[in-house]
Amino acid sequence: MRQLLPVLDVSPGTVGAPAAPAPRVAPALDVGVVEFATEDTVLPRFHVWTLGCQMNRSDSEEMAGALLSSGCSEAAGMDDADLIVINSCAIRETAEQKIIGRMGVFGRLKAANPALRVVLTGCSVRADENVDLRRRYPQIDLFLRPDEEPELTARLGLAGLTTPGGLGGTPGGPGSARFARVGRGTAATADRLPGTRAAAVATGSVARGSDISAWLPIIYGCDKTCTYCIVPFSRGPERSRPFDQILDEARSLADAGYQEVTLLGQNVNSYGHDLPPEERFKGVGEQRRLGRDLDLRGRPDMAALLRAIDGLRTADGLPAIPRLRFVTSHPWDLTDRLIAAIAECPSVCEHLHLPVQSGDDGVLRRMGRQYTAEAYLSLVERLRSAIPGISLSTDVICGFSGESERAFENTLALLQRVGFDQVFAAAFSVRPGTPAARLVDDVTPAEKRARLNRLLDLQERISRDRNAAWLGRTTEVLVDGVRPERAHGHDGGIENAGERLTGRNREHRLVHLAGLPELVGRRVPVIIERTGPYALAGRLLA
Ligand code: SAM
Ligand code: SF4
Ligand code: F3S
Repeated sequence: MRQLLPVLDVSPGTVGAPAAPAPRVAPALDVGVVEFATEDTVLPRFHVWTLGCQMNRSDSEEMAGALLSSGCSEAAGMDDADLIVINSCAIRETAEQKIIGRMGVFGRLKAANPALRVVLTGCSVRADENVDLRRRYPQIDLFLRPDEEPELTARLGLAGLTTPGGLGGTPGGPGSARFARVGRGTAATADRLPGTRAAAVATGSVARGSDISAWLPIIYGCDKTCTYCIVPFSRGPERSRPFDQILDEARSLADAGYQEVTLLGQNVNSYGHDLPPEERFKGVGEQRRLGRDLDLRGRPDMAALLRAIDGLRTADGLPAIPRLRFVTSHPWDLTDRLIAAIAECPSVCEHLHLPVQSGDDGVLRRMGRQYTAEAYLSLVERLRSAIPGISLSTDVICGFSGESERAFENTLALLQRVGFDQVFAAAFSVRPGTPAARLVDDVTPAEKRARLNRLLDLQERISRDRNAAWLGRTTEVLVDGVRPERAHGHDGGIENAGERLTGRNREHRLVHLAGLPELVGRRVPVIIERTGPYALAGRLLA
């Protein structure tokens, strides 16, 4: 008999208006009873559907790991699952619509399999919005905010079969989360996340999606003041993981042979400001400029963390983790100490993702970004003089409130001046509850699309030129995949001449090359023979 999961209810730990009872889909099993499951019980097959950024992908690895440790197995896909966990993104309305648009599909799957339960986690589940959640997502049985994700197995009645470890409160009950004011709203803090992460790492239960590259969360939440952004409301204020905990996780990844580790956070550059001062970090504070009043003396910072991870060495003195990356960086917190650490640590890759959002000072001010276009350009100069050849990528929002044609052209001009290697651009999407929702969304959807297309056209030309400069150069590629066989076609803007392997160089450029699948997971020298706007192609050097 396949075990029925209990019928679930919205977390009573959340705040806001009292929620209506959950729709009953199948006879409920008492949570306590489920924990004493009989031996012939078949545990649910689960499928995790992840949307959004790397942070969500990392969180999904943790949730999948907890489910596997509970004895559940992974389903081939949604259609075969008894449990669907949706890890949502709320950054733009379109991201939320993707899930809302699937409600009919979930309804049909539930009709065919009454044991099916659907859980919604991630950034769409916010402290203030319970009532709205039930209306928007009628097929969802359980809503878990990002800070409640470690409770997943316990809330499903599976906890007795595993070792969730360190929930720090009754799951879902009062005291299992704390709340903080964010602007005019409320967000749950991520107080427990460092502890639950450490427990998951210690028990080896993080189901990592790759054995070549790993995510390593170092800071949860965001304290910044970007008026358009939902993240501070979804993820709460910044919470740094303890320094030694991160170092332990990095060490275990090195021991497991990981070639690349990406440190994760919405704003990794502000790592450490909320940690207690310690003697070993004395001297750190004096040199930090965070653009606001924080007592940073003696606290660890991102530079100290990079140097410590880079300092993990093999017996022959090479970095134990050959490639170290980090996302995302807010220009506000990019200190000289950090630039020096990037320049001096051999494992830290020569690539930085540094979102600019706009090249117009008026727009930047209304966005609450706390820098001017000139200040951003001077950061780029400092980066390029300290790390020659560093590759830069960025995020841009087109059509923010009050963005005039001239303001938009200032953004195009900044793109031309910087010459980014890659740009992720999107049309402004009003997020209810954010400060920008009180501004007038006065750029029409058609104009936003038109500006976005102009920007992408310009960037395609810039990327094409920048990639062309790689022609004839030799670069180290970490091979990470084998492409499906295709006779013709373009990939990354260059014709596919039969190269089956893909990977990235240290500058984060996508590289195609011919070679045997056995090379996956290895760093190999490649001479670049063809280039396009989004990828390079080359030949393996002996
Ligand atoms: N923390 C990063 C930073 O700003 O430095 C960015 C993280 S955010 C998850 C990724 C990107 O989504 C942002 O850089 C921004 O360009 C985009 N974004 C955020 N809110 C948006 C909105 N309301 N409409 C359109 N794009 C948005
Ligand atoms: Fe959002 Fe700004 Fe925080 Fe990035 S830094 S997550 S854009 S509030
Ligand atoms: Fe989306 Fe949340 Fe990431 S809103 S981009 S999943 S932090």
